[in-house]
Amino acid sequence: MPTYGGDEVNALVIDVGSTWTRAGFAGEDLPRALFPSHVGYIESEVDIAEASDDPKPAAVADTDVEMGDASSANGATKQQAESDERVTAKGEGRKQKTRKYYVGDTESATWRAGMEIGGPLEQGLVSDWDVYEKIWEYAFKSRLHVRPEEHPVMVSEAAWNTSALRAKLVEMAFEKFNSPAFYVCKTPVLSAFGAGKHTGLVVDVGGDMTSTCAVYEGFCLTKSLCKQELGGELISEQILEKLKEEYDYELTPLFDIKSKAQVETLQKPVLSKHDREGTTSSYLSEMRLRAVQELKESVCEFIERPYDARLVGSKPQKPFEFPDGFNISVGALRFAMPEILFNPNQFLVKRPKRFENTSLLGLHEMVVKSVMASDVDLRPQLLNNVVLAGGSSLFPSYPDRMAVMLQDACPGSRIKFSPLNSKTERKATAWLGGSILASLGTFHQLWISRAEYDEHGASIVDKKCQ
Ligand SMILES: Nc1ncnc2c1ncn2[C@@H]1O[C@H](COP(=O)(O)OP(=O)(O)OP(=O)(O)O)[C@@H](O)[C@H]1O
Ligand SMILES: [Mg+2]
Repeated sequence: MPTYGGDEVNALVIDVGSTWTRAGFAGEDLPRALFPSHVGYIESEVDIAEASDDPKPAAVADTDVEMGDASSANGATKQQAESDERVTAKGEGRKQKTRKYYVGDTESATWRAGMEIGGPLEQGLVSDWDVYEKIWEYAFKSRLHVRPEEHPVMVSEAAWNTSALRAKLVEMAFEKFNSPAFYVCKTPVLSAFGAGKHTGLVVDVGGDMTSTCAVYEGFCLTKSLCKQELGGELISEQILEKLKEEYDYELTPLFDIKSKAQVETLQKPVLSKHDREGTTSSYLSEMRLRAVQELKESVCEFIERPYDARLVGSKPQKPFEFPDGFNISVGALRFAMPEILFNPNQFLVKRPKRFENTSLLGLHEMVVKSVMASDVDLRPQLLNNVVLAGGSSLFPSYPDRMAVMLQDACPGSRIKFSPLNSKTERKATAWLGGSILASLGTFHQLWISRAEYDEHGASIVDKKCQ
């Protein structure tokens, strides 16, 4: 555990995923904060002249209360930079765009006229640094109640992160959060550590992305990396498509419902709606997705063997009621939707545009591709240490089904999964790996210290964090 000013301080560990953020203290078993990575924001414009009458830049005045202490040590510099970035010339006067953010489960879900909602990542890489920064701020200040300038910070990154984005990340930690020390580690490596392995084949089925990657002695073998932009969120979207196609049903989320009547199974909802003028389409789709997630996470599961309509038909149906009162008895759908992960080309209800002219791989095919891209001597060890990670690995019967598919694809191989932790742990495998790594006694020499950053600049990250 590092010491600062004579006191031992816990490092902070943060894993910002495309759908969920996990944050907590190194050495602990579970992240203390778990909240959606999608944040709400309302954009507005103010005249620069108006803003400059105010001693503080408009962005400072307008900072969301949820964002914590705007007057912290580095707050003023940070927000000055933000408002500078957002200056746009418009017509006669010059305008400054400012965004007010709403982070966290409740804040991001609360309806507000004109509120958009969005996440910080695209295909696993940071694409909106303002949102990414707000997530850190919220996690550290509002949820962990720490001063980030007092704690080293351990961060996860996609295995395919770029050098330029890593440099921005290290800059953000030292310049905006004033971190005393920093380390960034690839998610598959962290997931392997989280499952107690230094070598293994990590299969991460997350929100937006699915990836398979070999890890050898704590290093990602990048040539083995296989990824697809196909994860749990796409399954949720496809469930909505299927409901439209099969029942001509479009879900009305809770925020829009004033009152509802009870209806028979498969009958159209009978409701009266609030007057919600100013609802943005990003907010509406997010709320629909969050509502359908409940169905996905409570009734969907894998069939233990390769998909067989007769076997699926013999399984019990499960009742489910949506917030608007529409209720169904879920039969084949509850197996067919997760099946997208093993058999995307056949089971996608509506193929997203981004997959036009692409043949998608099933999860087991991705695993085989990663194994075959690794050294021949290493392959048995990889198959013997398969780590199942990511929230979408929580569908019941997933390990059984994966075992059947892999055994079929690699006859004669010994296939073994990492010891499967509790569901909560599986959802936070990468975070847990970061927690273990950052609390190792031998880890202290690996941190990038403030002094090293000051001396070498952001490029130090590629030398120290591999
Ligand atoms: N019990 C469950 N059953 C099925 N799916 C689940 C369950 N719990 C969570 N999920 C799904 O897991 C996904 C989130 O997984 P995870 O938290 O690993 O993703 P992420 O790290 O945010 O995203 P990514 O790794 O793609 O950047 C969501 O789509 C969520 O609906
Ligand atoms: Mg993830």
